[in-house]
Amino acid sequence: MLGNFSYRNATKLYFGEDAIDHLSEELQKYGKNIQLIYGGGSIKRNGIYDEIVKILKDNGKNIIEDGGVMPNPTIDKVRDGIRIARENNVDLLLSVGGGSCCDYAKAVSISVNCDEDPWEKYFERMEEPSCEIVPVGCVLTLAGTGSEMNGGSVITNNDLKLKVGPVFGEEVFPKFAIMNPKYTYTLPQKQMVAGIYDIFNHICEQYFSGEDDNTSDYIAEALMKSVVHSSLIAIEDPEDYEARSNIMWTATWALNTLIECGKSTDWMVHMIGQSVGAYTDATHGMTLSAVSLPYYRYIMPYGLKKFVRFAQEVWNISPDGKTDVQIAEEGLEAMENWMKTIGLTMNLTDLGATKDMIDGITDGTFITDGGYKVLTKDEIREIIRSSF
Ligand code: NZQ
Ligand code: ZN
Repeated sequence: MLGNFSYRNATKLYFGEDAIDHLSEELQKYGKNIQLIYGGGSIKRNGIYDEIVKILKDNGKNIIEDGGVMPNPTIDKVRDGIRIARENNVDLLLSVGGGSCCDYAKAVSISVNCDEDPWEKYFERMEEPSCEIVPVGCVLTLAGTGSEMNGGSVITNNDLKLKVGPVFGEEVFPKFAIMNPKYTYTLPQKQMVAGIYDIFNHICEQYFSGEDDNTSDYIAEALMKSVVHSSLIAIEDPEDYEARSNIMWTATWALNTLIECGKSTDWMVHMIGQSVGAYTDATHGMTLSAVSLPYYRYIMPYGLKKFVRFAQEVWNISPDGKTDVQIAEEGLEAMENWMKTIGLTMNLTDLGATKDMIDGITDGTFITDGGYKVLTKDEIREIIRSSF
């Protein structure tokens, strides 16, 4: 049975090869001062930077540069962004990049007009914003996180070795997102597949919980099939527009609050993966792939029915003559084969983690209670240990 919920998504999307043509009309809605947020320089190399700067100038905007947002953005960088926004009376935070830039923009947006310390308020006490929010717009260049259409903002505190991702309400969602699948063509293969697994795992996190027959789970299965199918095409031909556009669109729907409607959700792979990220600074999607199979194999007996359904519906495993456990195991094997085929990192050693980090990663893992088994710290430690 579907539980009760309310649903609205506040982000306006422009999707397709000509999506950038809509930037000018969006810019009309905001004042002159635009904080242009981007990462380590990919947008300068692939020409997106020049394209955006021209549009901003044609619209008479003042461009306030804020580059250098790192993957897994830090709270120190956020503090820097807040300073830039305050000094320049910024009217719009325009993020041009992947999830890191967009998450960073959101963290800045809720802190500019707030006197409290952003880490303590949002990432420790997990409060909702209580001050005026500077609007965020997003030009997406990497499909994966869903940050373009959600309220998530994942920030790392290197001093505390914590990576924390509160999910804020709709006022923090980007006001608009521009999504041209061609912008993702220049991604290194490793980043593309990390994004693909991020998408797949977002769906898993919302699918592997509850036993009910509900529409959200049917949508989740369709999204999983689509991303698996398109991933196999995209690794052979990264410029296959159909595959790249399907991946981009699936990423958005995988984490824009739709498929969690009316059901419980898990998020334990992300909780462990984020703690791994705080210790290794590894690529987000790879932190998830490295711990996923030990985790799912461990919880499978507690949610057997759903793992059987996953095997049959997503991986076409035939149930004939097999026990439920066999079917479920074959499903996870099929998933493992797919993960290896597209080139994901399958263990923590390859991410640069060392065994002396096990206790710290365990301590930094938040325990959620929506999945099939509420884990103890000892169980988390064992899952991390078997991910090496
Ligand atoms: O920094 P530049 O030079 O731009 O290079 C980036 C970066 O090195 C590169 N890149 C992006 N688009 C490119 C490109 N290179 C060539 N061509 C392009 N078109 O890719 C690298 C990774 O970028 P990043 O933004 O870090 O990746 P992603 O989109 O995967 O974002 C990861 C961050 O999002 C958080 C993660 O934890 C991590 O911090 N997440 C956010 C979520 C949310 N808001 O809901 C949910 C996710 O579960 C996730 O936790
Ligand atoms: Zn993720």
